[in-house]
Amino acid sequence: MMRMRELTLSDATRVAEIEQELFAGDNPWSRDVFVAEFAQPYTFYVGAFEGDGPDGEETLVGYAGLAMLGPRDDPEFEVHTIGVDPAFQGRGIGRALMDQLVHAADMLDGPMFLEVRTDNAPAVGMYKSYGFFELAVRKNYYQPSGADAYSMMRHRRSERET
Ligand SMILES: CC(C)(COP(=O)(O)OP(=O)(O)OC[C@H]1O[C@@H](n2cnc3c(N)ncnc32)[C@H](O)[C@@H]1OP(=O)(O)O)[C@@H](O)C(=O)NCCC(=O)NCCS
Repeated sequence: MMRMRELTLSDATRVAEIEQELFAGDNPWSRDVFVAEFAQPYTFYVGAFEGDGPDGEETLVGYAGLAMLGPRDDPEFEVHTIGVDPAFQGRGIGRALMDQLVHAADMLDGPMFLEVRTDNAPAVGMYKSYGFFELAVRKNYYQPSGADAYSMMRHRRSERET
């Protein structure tokens, strides 16, 4: 069974391990970067855990991070990262993580932004299903791969509903 909770410093090593596996060619974030991210006052990091260990212990299988920018009464949000352990992909975990991020942004009625590789069809498809659309292509955004990125945006809740 999957459980979700906010990530803490003690999760940083495992998050960096999954990150390394998912983004090996695109400058994956190290444990130290995640430690710094978790410590920021305006970031929200959530993890998905599966309890399939021999003694019932839980293993982190996915993570997602959101940053809030701008003034408190008119914030905007950036999806900093989202990733699911390849062995656990395609089971709804990415969507469960994304639900948390969009909920946080919608509560404060802020628009969301993100970058994603143009060739990353699963992620682009997932983002579009949440109302993200392509704003621009950013050439050679990812290094060292040199892959292009879409900048994508999702309107704030009040603009989507009108
Ligand atoms: C993108 C990612 C987080 C999705 O996680 P996941 O747990 O596999 O996704 P889910 O099973 O919850 O599926 C969510 C949606 O993603 C899309 N999706 C997932 N796998 C897909 C695939 N193989 N092909 C096309 N779309 C796919 C679908 O829109 C899906 O929604 P649906 O099931 O309602 O159709 C995961 O593929 C991943 O970690 N990829 C590598 C890291 C990455 O690219 N992160 C994004 C960087 S910007």
